[in-house]
Amino acid sequence: MNIALGCDHGGLEHKNAILKQLTDMGHNVADFGIYENTSVDYPDIAKKVCESIQKGENALGILVCGTGIGMSIAANKHKGIRAAACSEHFSAKYTRLHNNSNVLCLGGRVIGVGTALELVDLFVNTEFEGGRHQKRIDKISEIEK
Ligand code: RB5
Repeated sequence: MNIALGCDHGGLEHKNAILKQLTDMGHNVADFGIYENTSVDYPDIAKKVCESIQKGENALGILVCGTGIGMSIAANKHKGIRAAACSEHFSAKYTRLHNNSNVLCLGGRVIGVGTALELVDLFVNTEFEGGRHQKRIDKISEIEK
């Protein structure tokens, strides 16, 4: 799968570990930075990751900031992006099953690297259930218009 990845200075360690895990699993990862520990504005990174999904270059995105919240707010401003900030397993799984989320946002200052890697694994390996959930996603798309 093609997966876009990005972080700000609150998530660099997590992002690098996620990059290694996804690459080791055989995924094609587009790393939109940051690459060294410099202070950046998280909306700039969210924009790059979300635009690559909108263009169809990547199927899913993972964004890490300090809380995961700023990234999710910025990501959800992009049409067609359904971003979820998760810090536990149930949400990371069900946001794929029920919301067909295409971006997972994580908080580098909220969860450890080990938990982040497990949430990424769940998110990437869970398929949208469709069915009754599709009409709800359609209603979100209507709101976007
Ligand atoms: C950066 O200090 C911090 O505000 C950012 O990483 C994030 O937590 C915002 O939601």
